[in-house]
Amino acid sequence: MKLTLSKDSLLTAAVDVLVVGVTSPKAAKDDRLARIDRAMNGAVTAAISHGDFKAKTGESVSVQGRGRMKARRVVFVGLGDKPLTEKDARVFAIRAGRIGASEASVALAYPSEDNDTLRSLADGVLNGAYRYTRYLTGARKPKRELKKALILVSPEVAVSGRDAVAAGTTVAEAVNFARDLVNCPPNDLTPTALANAAAEASKEAGIECTVHDKKGIQKLGMNLLLAVNSGSKEEPRFVHMIYKPKNVKSAPKVVLVGKGLTFDSGGLCVKPSGSMLTMKCDMAGAAVTIATVIAAAKLGLPVEVHGIVGSTDNMTGGDAYRPGDVFTSLDGKTVEIINTDAEGRLVLADALAYARELKPDYLIDHATLTGACVVALGDYTAGLFGNNDEAIAKYREAANASGESYWQMPLDSELRDQLKSDIADLKHTGARMGGAITAALFLQEFIGKSTWLHLDIAGPSFLERSHTMMPKGGTGFGVLTAIQFLRSLGSA
Ligand code: BES
Ligand code: MN
Ligand code: ZN
Repeated sequence: MKLTLSKDSLLTAAVDVLVVGVTSPKAAKDDRLARIDRAMNGAVTAAISHGDFKAKTGESVSVQGRGRMKARRVVFVGLGDKPLTEKDARVFAIRAGRIGASEASVALAYPSEDNDTLRSLADGVLNGAYRYTRYLTGARKPKRELKKALILVSPEVAVSGRDAVAAGTTVAEAVNFARDLVNCPPNDLTPTALANAAAEASKEAGIECTVHDKKGIQKLGMNLLLAVNSGSKEEPRFVHMIYKPKNVKSAPKVVLVGKGLTFDSGGLCVKPSGSMLTMKCDMAGAAVTIATVIAAAKLGLPVEVHGIVGSTDNMTGGDAYRPGDVFTSLDGKTVEIINTDAEGRLVLADALAYARELKPDYLIDHATLTGACVVALGDYTAGLFGNNDEAIAKYREAANASGESYWQMPLDSELRDQLKSDIADLKHTGARMGGAITAALFLQEFIGKSTWLHLDIAGPSFLERSHTMMPKGGTGFGVLTAIQFLRSLGSA
């Protein structure tokens, strides 16, 4: 799809559908609206005066162009009466992208055109038009797909806004890349395929990527990752991507770590079939990690970013690890296995112990870690844990701008006792209550002295139905905020 800025007016944009954002108290006086209204013989003012359209947030009205303007159809979308934020622009553009997804061309008209707004409009429209069609054939293959998207701006901005649109496009491609990885069925997206995808994208972005196979992982001494892998026919993979900015002295170093479970059956503590169905999403943390490093490189952010992914599936083969087994982690601590369905924290423990050796300024993991976090926060909000108030505040600020929803959870040290084992250094699970917290406390054992953030994205990374900002299926949740956070470090 081609996304460009255009100096066309509302009447001259020749597209299938024109989507116009309108703020509410002045709706009737909006001069962009008035021009269309005149062309339409008062159709818009009629809708307003009859109370059919008040331009409240999310409200919309659709009229046919009928040859009086170049657009075949116009949709007015309400923007409410509050000052507009980056998130408002993104939500509006996602909506426009969704409307445009079944057409060949769409144009967006929005009340402001500063660079942050243009970037959000760009990433929003490209993310809104996202569909996962790789496995559809014949009549199920969509007949039309969005080929052209325009953002209508003033003549000067049509030139000066190009970089912002390019940046938004890069961000959207990263989010959609993460979605594609999550949506890919687990028989095709094996740990090997996931690592290959990371390596291929790294090559294209011109950054370093090392992939360790099973032998390499044995050499490294990642026995917890190997334990989770032991019931599977598929080899595990361990990925380390590195983006170093050019010509930047003393760039801050961020190490991202992602849980890459390409499928989680629960292992011998097998999941009930209902909860197993969507467990191809259990590599969403890895997808966010990989996509964010690629985006940082393509944007040329002045931050050193590493991407670390531990990947395997969690299966029930004859060699599967058992409750009661004890393994020695990469960092030397011994771990008693309690429930084989708590596999994510094992894979992450070894990955975090590896990552901390890189001496990051920020160590940040993304993981679909616990059902308990979804019980606590619902489907749309991720749990945000951390051991540094400043880092937490900075991350929340980034989330505020991106529009993704995070909620701070406590690292309550009183629950730490639940991880005491009679025969090993650590038990790997605690009680059912507070399960998201004990999982985070387990991870904390492996981070050394790092400044650390743990993002439990089990809820929002995969959805049964679409949401204001996110599609059904893999959502790519996390990428927008992670990039925003990296950007905020760069400008500091
Ligand atoms: N991958 C799951 C967590 C999950 C649940 C992700 C729902 C996405 C949606 C994780 O590996 C898991 O099974 N966790 C267990 C831990 C328990 C056995 C201590 C859980 O949350 O039930
Ligand atoms: Mn599990
Ligand atoms: Zn899992």
